[in-house]
Amino acid sequence: MKSIKWNRDLSVGNAAIDEEHKKLISYLNDLYVACHAGQGPSVLRQTLCSLQRYTHEHFSHEEDAMHNMGYPGLADHRAQHGELMDKLDALIEEFDAGADHELSNKTLLFLADWLIQHIEAEDKKIGVFIGASN
Ligand SMILES: [Fe+2]
Ligand SMILES: [Fe+2]
Repeated sequence: MKSIKWNRDLSVGNAAIDEEHKKLISYLNDLYVACHAGQGPSVLRQTLCSLQRYTHEHFSHEEDAMHNMGYPGLADHRAQHGELMDKLDALIEEFDAGADHELSNKTLLFLADWLIQHIEAEDKKIGVFIGASN
């Protein structure tokens, strides 16, 4: 896979959320760089843990924002975030059992795909809701 870049098509129409998505993508690219630079298992694991920490932070902020604006799809959206956090826990367990480039690549592909799809299909609905309620 290639590194991913944030572009306007990914904008959800909320500056704070967009900034966090850019940061999330940069954490993902850190993993991409670590993987392609041939870094060892401990660096790969550490990079994935940083990504997990930031993802957790971002999801909390996004859920708080949805809660504060009375967003009707919060429960469903929260459940999707929860599923990804569970998946990240499982991936880190796999990394513990031995991180290699194949696992890193698989992880990168999965996360990049999940993130882009989630932003486009779900996070954008938050921006539409904000627009409609203004
Ligand atoms: Fe989200
Ligand atoms: Fe998000």
